[in-house]
Amino acid sequence: MEERQIKSRERVAERGEVFTAEREVNAMLDLVKQETERIDSRFLEPACGTGNFLVEILRRKLDVVLRQYKGQQAQVWLQSVIAISCIYGIDIMMDNVEECRQRLMEILCEWHPHALSGDEAPSDLQQVWQYLLERNILWGDALTLCEPVSENATFIEKRDAKPITFSEWSFISDMVVRKDYHLAALMQAQSQSVPDLFSDLGDKAYLPPKPVKEYKPVHYLKIATCYDTQQ
Ligand SMILES: C[S@@+](CC[C@H](N)C(=O)[O-])C[C@H]1O[C@@H](n2cnc3c(N)ncnc32)[C@H](O)[C@@H]1O
Repeated sequence: MEERQIKSRERVAERGEVFTAEREVNAMLDLVKQETERIDSRFLEPACGTGNFLVEILRRKLDVVLRQYKGQQAQVWLQSVIAISCIYGIDIMMDNVEECRQRLMEILCEWHPHALSGDEAPSDLQQVWQYLLERNILWGDALTLCEPVSENATFIEKRDAKPITFSEWSFISDMVVRKDYHLAALMQAQSQSVPDLFSDLGDKAYLPPKPVKEYKPVHYLKIATCYDTQQ
């Protein structure tokens, strides 16, 4: 099927919106193949468009879930949630954000029958996938690190723009701890690495900033419903 790389000439001119072709996406992801095939490796695409990179990353992670956990039904569902919880995206165009979420959801739904080898999936699973996609794929301006405001906005409206806030999902067995961070604070912390401290991949380590909100641990199948009731 022919790939659609642009939506309109106006959008190309205004936003440089040309989507990357599948062949290039795969070639680029192959440069970090090991990471794309680690279920819990985190990816953030700051101008994700309709998700050409994120969709392929999810596909690769879900293949690994089947290879590693096929037959362990409870693990398969949990690992699918872990895979989607570490995929993040930002785009300045709301229709791209919605399309990106929808495409990622389609990948999960197409994968679902291949993952079934025992019991039916828990009834809350699709709701959990959807919730994570809504929390992780955000409408935002990757330059201001805030929700977009119109060019004609007043100084006050620009100053008060809502900061892009991502949630970190940490899994301990089948429980999840959610911590919310402003993206600006995460990026600032990343620029202040701790001398002589390195991650497993050899990258400089840094201390995470203080979260803007921290939630009590909950069972992973409850994350779509429980946070509204937590203080
Ligand atoms: C060249 S396209 C690439 C899309 C996607 N990464 C891909 O490779 O298919 C650039 C994308 O960046 C988005 N964009 C442009 N300026 C942006 C900004 N300041 N913040 C976030 N997204 C932006 C556009 O809406 C468009 O979807």
